[in-house]
Amino acid sequence: MKKTIAIVSFAVIAAACHPAPEPEPVSTFSLTQLAAQKPGDLGADFVNVEGYPEQQQTNYRVFRLVCAQCHTLARPINSRVVKRDDWDRLMRRMHGKTVVYGWWTDFAASDAKRILDFLEYDSKVRKIERAGEFNKTVEELDALFVEVQAERKRFRAAQDRKTAAAREQ
Ligand code: HEC
Repeated sequence: MKKTIAIVSFAVIAAACHPAPEPEPVSTFSLTQLAAQKPGDLGADFVNVEGYPEQQQTNYRVFRLVCAQCHTLARPINSRVVKRDDWDRLMRRMHGKTVVYGWWTDFAASDAKRILDFLEYDSKVRKIERAGEFNKTVEELDALFVEVQAERKRFRAAQDRKTAAAREQ
């Protein structure tokens, strides 16, 4: 019992001698949100394909398997890209990255066609025919992304102060 009291009082004295530690930075954003690299990353990462033709629902499954390996599906789903040609070019760019990442991210030409078919169809339905709704979402994500970037800066600054304070002790 005596020993416990001694330890407790030592802790109290030790705490009194040192300045209060920098509080852990807390954020209203989740870690996933703080990790966003593009505005689209902050949006929905799935499409409700219930009303889509069966073939497009199958294509969607391929898209989900292939395109969520390096970033979430939110990135393409909330991207402003809509035209087949632009998707084609973008997919080649993504495919090019597979050389760096290794064989497991590779996808066959038949898969690429399925994904392209899906992206073209889905862009038409969701981004062109319902442009009002889609553009509003994208603008909201742009604004949210600005806030996330500012928060990330504050977060890093707080962490830097904490590291500096720990070094001084
Ligand atoms: C091997 C990793 C990898 C895979 C697989 C991958 N991506 Fe990406 N993707 C990236 C990286 C890294 C970036 C950010 C750099 C860039 O834009 O080139 C990115 C960026 C993007 C962007 C944003 C481009 C912009 O200009 O803002 C979209 C849209 C996208 N990817 C869609 C896809 C689609 C669709 C697929 C599936 C065909 C896919 N990605 C598969 C790594 C990948």
